Amino acid sequence: MDLIIRQATVAGAEQPADIGIRGERIARIGPAITETSPHEIDAAGRLVTPSLVETHVHLDAVLTAGSPRHNLTGSLFEGIEIWGERVKTLTREDVIRRADQAIRWMLACGVTHIRTHVDVCDPALVALRALLEVREAWRGVVEIQIVAFPQQGIYSFPDGEALMVQALDLGADLVGGIPHYEWTREYGERAVKTALRLAAERGLRADLHCDETDDDQSRFLEVVAAETIRLGLQGRVTAGHATAMHSYNNAYAHRLIRWMRQAGVHIVTNPLDNSVLQGRFDAYPIRRGFTRVKELLAAGINVCIGHDSIMDPWYPLGVGDPLQACFVMAHYGQMSGYEEVRALLEMVTTRAAACFGLDEYGLAEGRQADLVVWDAPTPEDAVRRIAPRVAVISRGRVVARTTPARSEVILRGTPEAVTFQP
Ligand code: FE2
Repeated sequence: MDLIIRQATVAGAEQPADIGIRGERIARIGPAITETSPHEIDAAGRLVTPSLVETHVHLDAVLTAGSPRHNLTGSLFEGIEIWGERVKTLTREDVIRRADQAIRWMLACGVTHIRTHVDVCDPALVALRALLEVREAWRGVVEIQIVAFPQQGIYSFPDGEALMVQALDLGADLVGGIPHYEWTREYGERAVKTALRLAAERGLRADLHCDETDDDQSRFLEVVAAETIRLGLQGRVTAGHATAMHSYNNAYAHRLIRWMRQAGVHIVTNPLDNSVLQGRFDAYPIRRGFTRVKELLAAGINVCIGHDSIMDPWYPLGVGDPLQACFVMAHYGQMSGYEEVRALLEMVTTRAAACFGLDEYGLAEGRQADLVVWDAPTPEDAVRRIAPRVAVISRGRVVARTTPARSEVILRGTPEAVTFQP
Protein backbone atom coordinates (compact mmCIF):
# COMPACT_ATOMS: atom_id res chain seq x y z
CA MET A 1 0.00 0.00 0.00
CA ASP A 2 1.15 3.56 -0.64
CA LEU A 3 -0.82 4.99 2.26
CA ILE A 4 -2.83 3.43 5.08
CA ILE A 5 -5.23 5.30 7.35
CA ARG A 6 -5.63 3.29 10.58
CA GLN A 7 -8.65 3.17 12.88
CA ALA A 8 -10.93 5.47 10.89
CA THR A 9 -14.56 6.00 11.79
CA VAL A 10 -16.47 5.63 8.52
CA ALA A 11 -20.16 6.00 7.74
CA GLY A 12 -22.11 2.77 7.96
CA ALA A 13 -19.47 0.76 9.87
CA GLU A 14 -19.92 -0.21 13.53
CA GLN A 15 -16.20 -0.56 14.24
CA PRO A 16 -13.26 1.64 13.15
CA ALA A 17 -11.73 0.53 9.86
CA ASP A 18 -8.37 0.74 8.12
CA ILE A 19 -8.30 2.32 4.66
CA GLY A 20 -5.56 1.15 2.32
CA ILE A 21 -4.64 3.28 -0.68
CA ARG A 22 -2.66 2.11 -3.67
CA GLY A 23 -1.75 4.74 -6.27
CA GLU A 24 -4.71 7.07 -6.72
CA ARG A 25 -7.35 4.62 -5.52
CA ILE A 26 -8.79 3.09 -2.40
CA ALA A 27 -7.58 -0.51 -2.52
CA ARG A 28 -9.12 -1.87 0.67
CA ILE A 29 -11.37 -0.91 3.55
CA GLY A 30 -11.42 -3.40 6.40
CA PRO A 31 -11.21 -3.91 10.16
CA ALA A 32 -7.44 -4.44 10.22
CA ILE A 33 -5.21 -4.37 7.14
CA THR A 34 -2.22 -6.62 7.83
CA GLU A 35 -0.01 -5.00 5.20
CA THR A 36 2.04 -2.00 6.19
CA SER A 37 3.02 1.13 4.31
CA PRO A 38 5.85 3.64 4.65
CA HIS A 39 3.08 6.26 4.96
CA GLU A 40 0.52 5.62 7.65
CA ILE A 41 -1.92 7.96 9.40
CA ASP A 42 -3.32 6.92 12.77
CA ALA A 43 -6.86 8.33 12.71
CA ALA A 44 -7.40 6.99 16.26
CA GLY A 45 -11.16 6.81 15.82
CA ARG A 46 -11.49 10.09 13.95
CA LEU A 47 -14.09 10.46 11.21
CA VAL A 48 -12.93 9.91 7.63
CA THR A 49 -15.18 11.01 4.78
CA PRO A 50 -14.82 11.55 1.07
CA SER A 51 -13.31 14.97 0.35
CA LEU A 52 -15.46 18.08 0.08
CA VAL A 53 -16.99 19.23 -3.20
CA GLU A 54 -17.65 22.96 -3.59
CA THR A 55 -20.53 23.39 -6.02
CA HIS A 56 -20.85 27.17 -6.15
CA VAL A 57 -18.17 29.81 -5.83
CA HIS A 58 -17.04 32.85 -7.83
CA LEU A 59 -13.27 32.59 -8.11
CA ASP A 60 -13.02 35.68 -10.33
CA ALA A 61 -14.40 37.86 -7.51
CA VAL A 62 -12.85 36.24 -4.42
CA LEU A 63 -10.65 38.28 -2.06
CA THR A 64 -11.64 41.65 -3.52
CA ALA A 65 -13.50 42.93 -0.42
CA GLY A 66 -12.55 46.56 0.15
CA SER A 67 -11.29 47.09 -3.41
CA PRO A 68 -11.87 49.71 -4.64
CA ARG A 69 -14.07 50.38 -1.58
CA HIS A 70 -15.97 48.57 1.13
CA ASN A 71 -19.67 47.74 0.85
CA LEU A 72 -21.06 49.93 3.64
CA THR A 73 -24.67 48.72 3.55
CA GLY A 74 -23.83 45.09 2.80
CA SER A 75 -26.62 45.06 0.22
CA LEU A 76 -26.65 43.18 -3.08
CA PHE A 77 -27.12 46.43 -4.97
CA GLU A 78 -24.16 48.26 -3.45
CA GLY A 79 -22.20 45.07 -4.10
CA ILE A 80 -23.13 45.13 -7.78
CA GLU A 81 -22.08 48.81 -8.01
CA ILE A 82 -18.71 48.11 -6.42
CA TRP A 83 -18.10 45.06 -8.59
CA GLY A 84 -18.92 47.21 -11.65
CA GLU A 85 -15.97 49.43 -10.66
CA ARG A 86 -13.63 46.59 -9.66
CA VAL A 87 -14.22 44.59 -12.81
CA LYS A 88 -12.68 47.38 -14.91
CA THR A 89 -9.31 46.76 -13.27
CA LEU A 90 -9.28 42.96 -13.63
CA THR A 91 -6.11 41.57 -15.15
CA ARG A 92 -4.98 38.02 -15.83
CA GLU A 93 -2.41 38.20 -13.01
CA ASP A 94 -4.89 39.68 -10.55
CA VAL A 95 -7.46 36.91 -11.18
CA ILE A 96 -4.89 34.11 -11.07
CA ARG A 97 -3.30 35.39 -7.85
CA ARG A 98 -6.58 35.69 -5.97
CA ALA A 99 -8.07 32.44 -7.31
CA ASP A 100 -4.89 30.52 -6.41
CA GLN A 101 -4.98 31.93 -2.90
CA ALA A 102 -8.65 31.02 -2.38
CA ILE A 103 -8.08 27.50 -3.77
CA ARG A 104 -5.29 27.00 -1.24
CA TRP A 105 -7.66 28.00 1.57
CA MET A 106 -10.33 25.65 0.27
CA LEU A 107 -7.89 22.78 -0.14
CA ALA A 108 -6.78 23.22 3.48
CA CYS A 109 -10.47 22.85 4.38
CA GLY A 110 -10.71 19.56 2.47
CA VAL A 111 -12.10 20.73 -0.87
CA THR A 112 -10.73 18.78 -3.86
CA HIS A 113 -13.43 19.69 -6.40
CA ILE A 114 -14.60 23.22 -7.18
CA ARG A 115 -17.30 24.47 -9.52
CA THR A 116 -16.73 28.16 -10.13
CA HIS A 117 -18.86 30.63 -11.99
CA VAL A 118 -16.96 33.23 -13.99
CA ASP A 119 -18.43 36.44 -15.36
CA VAL A 120 -18.44 36.34 -19.16
CA CYS A 121 -20.02 39.79 -19.65
CA ASP A 122 -16.65 41.09 -20.78
CA PRO A 123 -15.74 41.41 -24.47
CA ALA A 124 -12.13 40.43 -23.63
CA LEU A 125 -13.15 37.52 -21.35
CA VAL A 126 -10.17 38.33 -19.11
CA ALA A 127 -11.37 36.41 -16.04
CA LEU A 128 -12.44 33.38 -18.05
CA ARG A 129 -9.09 33.09 -19.82
CA ALA A 130 -7.28 33.43 -16.48
CA LEU A 131 -9.42 30.78 -14.78
CA LEU A 132 -8.92 28.37 -17.69
CA GLU A 133 -5.20 28.62 -16.86
CA VAL A 134 -5.92 28.11 -13.16
CA ARG A 135 -8.02 25.03 -13.95
CA GLU A 136 -5.14 23.43 -15.86
CA ALA A 137 -2.53 24.38 -13.25
CA TRP A 138 -4.47 22.63 -10.47
CA ARG A 139 -5.45 19.53 -12.44
CA GLY A 140 -4.61 16.35 -10.55
CA VAL A 141 -4.91 18.01 -7.13
CA VAL A 142 -8.08 20.09 -7.30
CA GLU A 143 -10.54 19.48 -10.14
CA ILE A 144 -12.16 22.71 -11.29
CA GLN A 145 -15.32 23.09 -13.36
CA ILE A 146 -15.89 26.51 -14.92
CA VAL A 147 -19.40 27.84 -15.51
CA ALA A 148 -19.74 30.56 -18.16
CA PHE A 149 -21.81 32.96 -16.08
CA PRO A 150 -23.38 36.02 -17.73
CA GLN A 151 -23.49 38.24 -14.63
CA GLN A 152 -25.50 40.91 -16.44
CA GLY A 153 -27.65 38.59 -18.52
CA ILE A 154 -27.44 36.90 -21.89
CA TYR A 155 -29.97 39.28 -23.48
CA SER A 156 -29.48 42.34 -21.27
CA PHE A 157 -25.80 42.79 -22.09
CA PRO A 158 -24.49 43.69 -25.56
CA ASP A 159 -23.58 40.52 -27.49
CA GLY A 160 -24.31 38.43 -24.40
CA GLU A 161 -25.22 35.33 -26.40
CA ALA A 162 -22.12 35.60 -28.60
CA LEU A 163 -19.92 35.97 -25.51
CA MET A 164 -21.51 32.88 -23.98
CA VAL A 165 -20.80 30.88 -27.15
CA GLN A 166 -17.23 32.21 -27.25
CA ALA A 167 -16.69 31.27 -23.59
CA LEU A 168 -17.82 27.72 -24.33
CA ASP A 169 -15.62 27.56 -27.43
CA LEU A 170 -12.66 28.62 -25.27
CA GLY A 171 -13.28 25.72 -22.90
CA ALA A 172 -15.80 26.63 -20.19
CA ASP A 173 -17.25 23.39 -18.83
CA LEU A 174 -20.82 24.46 -18.10
CA VAL A 175 -23.41 26.88 -19.39
CA GLY A 176 -24.66 29.45 -16.88
CA GLY A 177 -27.40 32.03 -16.67
CA ILE A 178 -29.16 34.60 -14.51
CA PRO A 179 -32.71 34.76 -15.91
CA HIS A 180 -34.21 36.72 -12.98
CA TYR A 181 -31.74 39.54 -13.57
CA GLU A 182 -32.57 39.91 -17.29
CA TRP A 183 -34.53 43.07 -18.10
CA THR A 184 -37.83 41.35 -18.90
CA ARG A 185 -39.60 38.07 -18.23
CA GLU A 186 -39.32 37.32 -21.94
CA TYR A 187 -35.54 37.87 -21.96
CA GLY A 188 -35.27 35.61 -18.92
CA GLU A 189 -37.19 32.78 -20.58
CA ARG A 190 -35.10 33.14 -23.73
CA ALA A 191 -31.94 33.06 -21.63
CA VAL A 192 -32.95 29.78 -19.97
CA LYS A 193 -33.87 28.24 -23.33
CA THR A 194 -30.62 29.37 -24.92
CA ALA A 195 -28.50 28.13 -22.02
CA LEU A 196 -30.09 24.69 -21.99
CA ARG A 197 -30.06 24.42 -25.78
CA LEU A 198 -26.32 25.15 -25.77
CA ALA A 199 -25.83 22.54 -23.04
CA ALA A 200 -27.79 19.93 -25.01
CA GLU A 201 -26.03 20.69 -28.31
CA ARG A 202 -22.58 20.48 -26.75
CA GLY A 203 -23.18 17.64 -24.32
CA LEU A 204 -22.45 19.92 -21.36
CA ARG A 205 -24.02 20.43 -17.97
CA ALA A 206 -25.77 23.66 -17.10
CA ASP A 207 -25.77 25.59 -13.83
CA LEU A 208 -27.92 28.69 -13.68
CA HIS A 209 -28.33 31.28 -10.97
CA CYS A 210 -32.10 31.13 -10.77
CA ASP A 211 -34.66 33.29 -8.96
CA GLU A 212 -32.14 34.79 -6.53
CA THR A 213 -34.59 37.43 -5.38
CA ASP A 214 -37.40 37.90 -2.86
CA ASP A 215 -39.82 38.60 -5.73
CA ASP A 216 -42.52 35.93 -5.64
CA GLN A 217 -43.20 36.67 -9.32
CA SER A 218 -39.74 35.48 -10.31
CA ARG A 219 -40.57 32.05 -11.68
CA PHE A 220 -37.81 30.85 -13.96
CA LEU A 221 -37.22 27.57 -12.17
CA GLU A 222 -40.36 26.23 -13.86
CA VAL A 223 -38.83 27.11 -17.24
CA VAL A 224 -35.58 25.40 -16.23
CA ALA A 225 -37.48 22.25 -15.21
CA ALA A 226 -39.64 22.19 -18.36
CA GLU A 227 -36.71 22.75 -20.73
CA THR A 228 -34.61 20.15 -18.89
CA ILE A 229 -37.33 17.57 -19.47
CA ARG A 230 -37.97 18.64 -23.08
CA LEU A 231 -34.27 18.40 -23.97
CA GLY A 232 -33.64 15.16 -22.05
CA LEU A 233 -31.11 16.81 -19.72
CA GLN A 234 -32.37 15.15 -16.53
CA GLY A 235 -29.67 15.04 -13.86
CA ARG A 236 -27.40 17.43 -15.76
CA VAL A 237 -28.91 20.76 -14.75
CA THR A 238 -28.36 22.73 -11.55
CA ALA A 239 -30.19 25.79 -10.29
CA GLY A 240 -28.41 27.98 -7.74
CA HIS A 241 -30.01 30.05 -4.96
CA ALA A 242 -33.72 29.72 -5.91
CA THR A 243 -34.48 32.05 -3.00
CA ALA A 244 -37.78 33.31 -4.44
CA MET A 245 -39.17 29.90 -3.51
CA HIS A 246 -39.29 31.21 0.06
CA SER A 247 -41.96 33.69 -1.06
CA TYR A 248 -44.04 31.52 -3.40
CA ASN A 249 -47.49 30.54 -2.26
CA ASN A 250 -47.57 26.94 -1.08
CA ALA A 251 -49.81 25.69 -3.89
CA TYR A 252 -47.36 26.97 -6.51
CA ALA A 253 -44.32 25.68 -4.61
CA HIS A 254 -45.92 22.24 -4.35
CA ARG A 255 -46.54 22.12 -8.12
CA LEU A 256 -43.04 23.41 -8.92
CA ILE A 257 -41.33 20.84 -6.72
CA ARG A 258 -43.08 18.08 -8.70
CA TRP A 259 -41.66 19.39 -11.99
CA MET A 260 -38.23 19.79 -10.43
CA ARG A 261 -38.22 16.18 -9.29
CA GLN A 262 -39.26 14.99 -12.74
CA ALA A 263 -36.46 17.07 -14.24
CA GLY A 264 -33.87 15.79 -11.75
CA VAL A 265 -32.71 19.37 -11.20
CA HIS A 266 -29.98 19.79 -8.57
CA ILE A 267 -30.36 22.75 -6.24
CA VAL A 268 -27.43 24.58 -4.72
CA THR A 269 -28.34 26.72 -1.75
CA ASN A 270 -25.90 29.37 -0.56
CA PRO A 271 -26.70 30.19 3.06
CA LEU A 272 -23.75 32.49 3.69
CA ASP A 273 -24.53 35.05 0.98
CA ASN A 274 -28.30 34.72 1.02
CA SER A 275 -28.62 35.07 4.80
CA VAL A 276 -27.17 38.56 4.53
CA LEU A 277 -28.51 39.62 1.12
CA GLN A 278 -32.17 38.59 1.17
CA GLY A 279 -35.08 40.33 2.86
CA ARG A 280 -33.46 43.71 2.34
CA PHE A 281 -36.69 45.36 1.15
CA ASP A 282 -38.72 44.05 4.07
CA ALA A 283 -39.86 45.94 7.12
CA TYR A 284 -40.34 43.66 10.10
CA PRO A 285 -40.94 40.76 9.98
CA ILE A 286 -37.93 40.29 7.68
CA ARG A 287 -38.06 37.21 5.47
CA ARG A 288 -35.15 34.82 5.51
CA GLY A 289 -35.43 34.63 1.74
CA PHE A 290 -34.21 31.12 1.28
CA THR A 291 -35.05 28.11 -0.82
CA ARG A 292 -37.17 25.35 0.73
CA VAL A 293 -34.35 22.98 1.55
CA LYS A 294 -36.19 20.57 3.82
CA GLU A 295 -39.18 20.27 1.48
CA LEU A 296 -36.91 19.72 -1.51
CA LEU A 297 -34.93 17.02 0.29
CA ALA A 298 -38.15 15.34 1.42
CA ALA A 299 -39.35 15.35 -2.21
CA GLY A 300 -36.23 13.46 -3.27
CA ILE A 301 -34.50 16.42 -4.95
CA ASN A 302 -30.73 16.66 -4.64
CA VAL A 303 -29.80 19.75 -2.62
CA CYS A 304 -26.20 20.86 -2.09
CA ILE A 305 -24.66 23.67 -0.07
CA GLY A 306 -22.39 26.18 -1.81
CA HIS A 307 -20.13 28.86 -0.36
CA ASP A 308 -20.75 31.43 -3.14
CA SER A 309 -18.63 34.45 -2.17
CA ILE A 310 -15.36 34.56 -0.27
CA MET A 311 -14.47 38.13 0.76
CA ASP A 312 -16.00 39.93 -2.20
CA PRO A 313 -18.35 42.94 -2.57
CA TRP A 314 -21.38 40.78 -1.68
CA TYR A 315 -20.01 38.87 1.28
CA PRO A 316 -16.96 40.15 3.16
CA LEU A 317 -16.52 37.10 5.39
CA GLY A 318 -15.49 33.49 4.92
CA VAL A 319 -12.34 31.42 4.58
CA GLY A 320 -13.60 29.12 1.84
CA ASP A 321 -14.70 26.45 4.31
CA PRO A 322 -17.89 24.62 3.24
CA LEU A 323 -18.44 23.73 6.91
CA GLN A 324 -19.09 27.36 7.76
CA ALA A 325 -21.86 27.27 5.16
CA CYS A 326 -23.18 24.03 6.70
CA PHE A 327 -23.15 25.64 10.14
CA VAL A 328 -25.14 28.65 8.96
CA MET A 329 -27.48 26.34 7.05
CA ALA A 330 -28.25 24.44 10.26
CA HIS A 331 -29.55 27.69 11.78
CA TYR A 332 -30.98 29.52 8.81
CA GLY A 333 -32.72 26.45 7.43
CA GLN A 334 -33.72 25.16 10.87
CA MET A 335 -31.87 21.91 10.25
CA SER A 336 -31.08 21.08 13.86
CA GLY A 337 -32.73 17.65 14.05
CA TYR A 338 -30.27 14.81 14.63
CA GLU A 339 -30.49 13.38 11.11
CA GLU A 340 -30.64 16.88 9.62
CA VAL A 341 -27.30 17.91 11.14
CA ARG A 342 -25.74 14.74 9.74
CA ALA A 343 -27.33 15.42 6.34
CA LEU A 344 -25.55 18.80 6.16
CA LEU A 345 -22.24 17.03 5.62
CA GLU A 346 -23.72 15.00 2.74
CA MET A 347 -24.69 18.29 1.09
CA VAL A 348 -21.01 19.20 0.69
CA THR A 349 -19.78 15.67 -0.05
CA THR A 350 -21.88 12.93 -1.67
CA ARG A 351 -24.78 15.13 -2.74
CA ALA A 352 -22.38 17.73 -4.12
CA ALA A 353 -20.52 14.99 -6.00
CA ALA A 354 -23.77 13.96 -7.71
CA CYS A 355 -24.34 17.56 -8.79
CA PHE A 356 -20.75 17.72 -10.02
CA GLY A 357 -21.21 14.51 -12.01
CA LEU A 358 -18.42 12.55 -10.30
CA ASP A 359 -18.56 8.80 -10.79
CA GLU A 360 -15.18 7.89 -9.24
CA TYR A 361 -16.07 9.54 -5.95
CA GLY A 362 -16.85 7.96 -2.58
CA LEU A 363 -15.47 6.03 0.34
CA ALA A 364 -15.44 2.58 -1.25
CA GLU A 365 -12.88 0.17 -2.65
CA GLY A 366 -11.87 1.03 -6.21
CA ARG A 367 -12.89 4.68 -5.94
CA GLN A 368 -10.51 7.62 -6.26
CA ALA A 369 -8.75 8.25 -2.94
CA ASP A 370 -10.00 11.77 -2.22
CA LEU A 371 -10.49 11.81 1.54
CA VAL A 372 -10.63 13.98 4.63
CA VAL A 373 -9.55 12.98 8.14
CA TRP A 374 -11.52 15.13 10.60
CA ASP A 375 -10.55 16.07 14.13
CA ALA A 376 -13.99 14.83 15.15
CA PRO A 377 -15.47 11.43 15.96
CA THR A 378 -18.80 11.87 14.11
CA PRO A 379 -20.40 13.92 11.31
CA GLU A 380 -22.51 15.86 13.81
CA ASP A 381 -19.42 16.74 15.82
CA ALA A 382 -17.63 17.83 12.63
CA VAL A 383 -20.49 20.27 11.96
CA ARG A 384 -20.84 21.41 15.59
CA ARG A 385 -17.21 22.42 16.01
CA ILE A 386 -16.50 23.16 12.32
CA ALA A 387 -13.78 20.68 13.12
CA PRO A 388 -10.25 20.98 11.72
CA ARG A 389 -9.33 18.73 8.80
CA VAL A 390 -6.18 17.04 10.12
CA ALA A 391 -5.38 15.52 6.73
CA VAL A 392 -6.68 16.06 3.22
CA ILE A 393 -5.91 13.41 0.60
CA SER A 394 -6.29 14.01 -3.11
CA ARG A 395 -5.73 11.09 -5.50
CA GLY A 396 -3.94 9.13 -2.82
CA ARG A 397 -1.54 11.87 -1.72
CA VAL A 398 -1.69 14.00 1.42
CA VAL A 399 -2.10 17.52 0.05
CA ALA A 400 -3.05 19.47 3.20
CA ARG A 401 -2.63 19.14 6.96
CA THR A 402 -3.95 21.05 9.95
CA THR A 403 -2.73 20.89 13.52
CA PRO A 404 -5.77 21.42 15.77
CA ALA A 405 -5.56 24.25 18.28
CA ARG A 406 -4.99 23.31 21.92
CA SER A 407 -6.99 25.25 24.49
CA GLU A 408 -6.52 25.29 28.23
CA VAL A 409 -7.93 27.18 31.15
CA ILE A 410 -5.69 28.18 34.03
CA LEU A 411 -7.42 27.89 37.36
CA ARG A 412 -5.60 28.72 40.57
CA GLY A 413 -2.38 28.61 38.57
CA THR A 414 -2.97 25.12 37.17
CA PRO A 415 -3.41 24.67 33.41
CA GLU A 416 -6.21 22.28 32.44
CA ALA A 417 -6.96 21.14 28.88
CA VAL A 418 -10.32 22.06 27.31
CA THR A 419 -11.36 19.79 24.44
CA PHE A 420 -14.91 21.03 23.83
CA GLN A 421 -16.05 17.42 24.17
CA PRO A 422 -18.79 16.65 26.71
FE1 FE2 B 1 -23.42 32.92 -7.10
